This record gives sequence, C-alpha cells and structure tokens, in this order.
Amino acid sequence: MTTNIEIQRIKESKIASVDFDNLPFGSVYSDHMLECDFINGEWQTPVVKPYSPITLDPSAKIFHYGQSIFEGMKAYKDADENIMLFRPTDNCKRLNKSAERLVIPQIPEEVFMAGLKKLLEVDSDWIPRKEGSSLYIRPFMFATGKGFHASPADAYKFIICTAPSGAYFAGEVKVLIEEKYARAANGGVGFAKAGGNYAAQFYPTQLAMEKGYNQVIWTDDNTHQFIEEAGAMNIFIRINDTLITSPTSDRILDGITRKSILQIAEDNGMKTEIRKISVGEVVEAAKNGSLKEMFGAGTAAVISPIAGFGYQENDFALPTLENPYASQLKKLITDIQTNKTEDPYGWRVFVK
Ligand code: PLP
Ligand code: COI
Repeated sequence: MTTNIEIQRIKESKIASVDFDNLPFGSVYSDHMLECDFINGEWQTPVVKPYSPITLDPSAKIFHYGQSIFEGMKAYKDADENIMLFRPTDNCKRLNKSAERLVIPQIPEEVFMAGLKKLLEVDSDWIPRKEGSSLYIRPFMFATGKGFHASPADAYKFIICTAPSGAYFAGEVKVLIEEKYARAANGGVGFAKAGGNYAAQFYPTQLAMEKGYNQVIWTDDNTHQFIEEAGAMNIFIRINDTLITSPTSDRILDGITRKSILQIAEDNGMKTEIRKISVGEVVEAAKNGSLKEMFGAGTAAVISPIAGFGYQENDFALPTLENPYASQLKKLITDIQTNKTEDPYGWRVFVK
C-alpha cells in the first residue's frame, strides 16, 4: 500500500461552464476524481484522474448483491483561500465501519486523507467561496469483483468525486411520520451508509410526497412508536427549551453533524437530552404548545428546519420563532466549518 498518489490532469477544464452563483446540489462535478482499486488482496496506487465514466463487468457483484457504501462530507474555502474540511477522519472511520458490515475491505486512513487532500489541491478552484455553498465530497466503495455466487467479491473500487453545491433543500420542509415502512431494523445495516438503505427509503418517501410532504420521519421498525431519523438526516426535537435526539443504535446513523450539534448546544447553554422520544409525546407537545422546533441535521443540509408534520391523517404546524435554536446552531456550526470563528474543538482540518 502506498500514499503516493499518481496524478493525471484533465486536458481542458470544464470550470468556465459552471455558474457558481446558482449551484444545484450534487449534480455538477469537478474536473477530477480519485480512484483506487483493491485487487489480489491489496489496494493499488491511488490515482487522481479526469472525472469520467467507469467500465464494469455485468457480473460485478455491486449490481447483484449491493456491496456498496458511501460517505458525504464538505470542503470550504475562506476569503484567504484556506481550504477546510470538517472532522474528515470521522468520515473515514465511519466508512470503515460500513465496510466491515458489508464485508468490503478497510481503506487505510492515511490513503483516504492523502487522496482526498491531493484531489482538493488539484481541484481547488472548484471549491465555492459563496456563503451557503461548498464543495460536496462523495467518497464511495463498491464491489467490482465478478460472480453470481452470493458471496463477497474479490475486488473493489474506492472513488472520491466532488460537486460544487448550493443548498440541499429549497423552501420549507413538511414531513410525514411513518407508520408502516421502516428504513432499518435491529441487527440490520441502518447504522451503515450502505447504498441499499437509501434505495429502501425511496418508495415510502415517494408515497409521502404524493400526499404533499417532502420527507418521511422514520420510526422504529417494531412498534412505529418512536422517532428515529428525518429522511437522510438525524432528527432534533425541541420541547420547551430542551433539545432531544434519539440515541444511536443499529438502526440509526451516527451522524457527525448530530454529535457536533449536541456538543455546541451544550456549550452554548442549551439543554440537550439523548433519549427515545415517542410519537405520542411529540403529538401531545404539538397540541399543548410545548413543541417549539423540529429539525433534521446532516452534512448536506447542515440543519433543515421542519415547518410541520403529518401523523394519522392530521397535520400539525410548528410555530414560527424569533431566534430559533435551528438558526443559532446552524450559524455556530457553519462559522466553525468555514473558519469564521475559533474552533475550540479541533474539528477543522486545513488542506492548505
Ligand atoms: N442519517 C442518515 C441516514 C444519513 O444518510 C446522514 C447523512 O450522512 C445522516 C443521518 C447525517 O450524518 P452526517 O451528519 O454525518 O452527515
Ligand atoms: C447528508 O449529508 O446529510 C446526507 O444525508 C447525504 C444524502 C445526500 C444522502
């Protein structure tokens, strides 16, 4: 294994065709990607190369047995051209946790970090400076090894692609509390960022959208009585002045935004509780006025305030507050991410 990175530069950059003032989320891609193959039991030399399609054998196991995992992270650039990442080694550790569960080989942290930094240096012009925009980074690993035998593949690919991106959600978010479907089960892969988890979310989410909602609030697969996640985000619920989030488990992704927000909230005098929270408690709080805020937390949207929720054919609106925790926390965390404030936690990692 090597942390030497080979570099093959693109002949002509596409950057002039990109409107950096109107960036979509995750659908415009930077010039280069990092690619590294796992063959014969070994990771090969990682290569930074032009972003381009990949060729796979039709019998590659990714297509049949879904050995595929990913991460989501962001790079930011400040006014002095510093490039920053946010807790990047946590993403690498989580990728390797997902890898273990899906029997995909571990990617050494030094390869992940060296490859990522080199890619960001080569494509540094692609990192947006505009407030609210960033370079969304998508590391992923999947089975390229062949065979219809239902067993782990013998070859894999690790890729990092990047996409200069704007906001994940446009407008307000209305959610539906799920009573039938589940995204994860005990003993399953809900804690992993496995591609299949997201495929399983699409159908129930589509049904919710047909009813006029934007996202599903996932409840536990067994009783559907307890709130677990908000779409592809962790969930926070503010009752009076206490911010509550469910404990992580087999079924819940251990979000980096979630744990950062818990720390920042505590350090800024907000009371937090990590505990199971029932749908009944939330409905009751909505009825008696103690439900102040609900929001999703994740890398892509950072914090996504929820304007209202549906449950059992009833709709409940969240109040409009003067200075909601969601806005306060979003500013506190993005100021750290974008180098606008001190970082007492050591979360920021400079690329150069
Ligand atoms: N929950 C799920 C299911 C997710 O896919 C994500 C996104 O990564 C999160 C929560 C939030 O995690 P993080 O804050 O690490 O992005
Ligand atoms: C997040 O970063 O918050 C995500 O959930 C990633 C998403 C685009 C799948």
